[in-house]
Amino acid sequence: MSAENEEKWFETWFDSPYYHILYQHRNEDEAKLFIDHLMSALGPLDGQTFLDLACGKGRHAHYISQKGFETMGVDLSKNSIEFAKQFESNQLQFAVHDMREVIANKQFDFILNLFTSFGYFDDIADNLKMLSSIHEMLTDKGIFVLDFFNSYKVVSNMVESETKALSDIVFHLSKNLVHKKIVKSINFADKGKQYHFEEQVNVFSDKEILQMLDDKGFEVKHIFGDYHLMPFDKYTSDRFIVIASKK
Ligand SMILES: C[S@@+](CC[C@H](N)C(=O)[O-])C[C@H]1O[C@@H](n2cnc3c(N)ncnc32)[C@H](O)[C@@H]1O
Repeated sequence: MSAENEEKWFETWFDSPYYHILYQHRNEDEAKLFIDHLMSALGPLDGQTFLDLACGKGRHAHYISQKGFETMGVDLSKNSIEFAKQFESNQLQFAVHDMREVIANKQFDFILNLFTSFGYFDDIADNLKMLSSIHEMLTDKGIFVLDFFNSYKVVSNMVESETKALSDIVFHLSKNLVHKKIVKSINFADKGKQYHFEEQVNVFSDKEILQMLDDKGFEVKHIFGDYHLMPFDKYTSDRFIVIASKK
């Protein structure tokens, strides 16, 4: 395979069952709690529509549709979308889609990008392209919710290596800061076979994210620091959650 055709880490890792084993603590309950708080803050009206961009197995999208809103969930992972499709209904649809691209002929009142589904691309232009696509898919008064980690806290508290035993698998994890990216190496054995995966997420500061949003035509309305929507604090918050509209 040439370097160009080589699979990217986010195409393989998120599509593997092991991603879902390692992050099993990020579950339905966490998703419901966050969505309940978001709904109170956003106050969607009857008939408004949602897009969950990089929806994974659809834990947020499913719950939003149960609240009565037409919802679409898209993700690059074929396996995750195949799983999510069991929840499809008149109100809820899922599709495999690359978040850098616009979904043809669709607009949404709310676009959500949740649980650090941003900052994956080697080329900064791809992150910006994703923001442009979101802008294009939003209705005029639409709202974008970006839920990123708080880079300052993640880097300050970075544990360089740890071991986690989950569902009979012992994951050996190591994290390094390489060229402004957190590179997490994930090594483990299952049924006698050794596996190695990587996660690479850009360590965008709060200022850098706000600058990108500004450059791509968004106006920031609120910034929160956790899934209870408490105010953001650079030193203590776990999350950096931005609510933005079109300028
Ligand atoms: C950290 S997970 C979060 C999933 C989901 N939002 C949740 O909270 O459960 C990141 C997701 O981004 C998806 N993803 C990665 N690159 C993508 C791309 N280029 N387009 C669409 N989805 C992508 C992955 O497949 C994965 O499901």
